[in-house]
Amino acid sequence: MSLSVKHLLGIKDLLPSDIELILKTAEKFKEVLQRPIKKVPTLRDTSIVNLFFENSTRTRISFELAEKRLSADTINFAASGSSVSKGETLIDTAKNILSMKVDMVVMRHSATGAPHFLANHINASIVNAGDGINEHPTQALLDAFSMTEKLGDLKGKKVAIIGDIMHSRVALSNIYCLTKLGAEVIVCGPPTLIPKHIETLGVKVSYDVRKTLEWCDVANVLRIQLERQNKPLFSSLREYSMYYGVSKSLLDAVKKDIVIMHPGPINRGVELSSDVADSKQSIILDQVENGVAVRMAVLYLLAGKKDNLI
Ligand code: CP
Repeated sequence: MSLSVKHLLGIKDLLPSDIELILKTAEKFKEVLQRPIKKVPTLRDTSIVNLFFENSTRTRISFELAEKRLSADTINFAASGSSVSKGETLIDTAKNILSMKVDMVVMRHSATGAPHFLANHINASIVNAGDGINEHPTQALLDAFSMTEKLGDLKGKKVAIIGDIMHSRVALSNIYCLTKLGAEVIVCGPPTLIPKHIETLGVKVSYDVRKTLEWCDVANVLRIQLERQNKPLFSSLREYSMYYGVSKSLLDAVKKDIVIMHPGPINRGVELSSDVADSKQSIILDQVENGVAVRMAVLYLLAGKKDNLI
């Protein structure tokens, strides 16, 4: 079994069978990660560079750990402190690194389409670790893996994505992933943070958080991305929290055991109250844990190794 793609640029390009293969493979790697020795020699002959042109905590550490658990050689690149600050272009930076015989590139960039652009100019496999407001495919895969662990097959499951849909690459990748797996999806937030015509992607739109929570099995709550808003799109964070924040009192009123998710970083007290983020309903840290196994699966499958996983 192999993937239909050479790169993981977005969930949009994947077949449902690709997603299922990644999730099945991740289950095997999750088992590896429970062992006393959490390391396999699978990618011992593979060099991977992590090119991060934008800040990250979870994704960057998770990829690095996944690479190390697979015994790959890893190189970490951060734009700050590199020759990018001297005016070097993205392609020159990548070509220079790849001339040192690197096999795969994991890239995060603030520009939408940056990994797609790079994929047209270099031979190595590229994994998109988040590009602008476009896609964050491994986040959607780890979200789907975590939801499946909790709820079983996602076909027919009701998932609400609540918050800043407009500026969220996590929202778009989740929409592609969940609809391909047969889940029902509602996006919910203030009208100014929901893109026009989003229904064409096969989702419904709601502006009412309480009704949305009454409907869903899972609520994936997203951060307000103030850094991506050129002008204010709602009156204040306080008002946002009042109308769209997910709080304990709101969940108590809904009287339903909804699974709460968040890709991080959380703005506590804005989109999610601390007592919800840290509650038994929350699987936020499970998402982070599962990220390593899912990224191991992605790297292993893209490397096209025929050997056994272990
Ligand atoms: N979820 C996520 O992408 O987090 P980081 O920005 O910390 O990588």
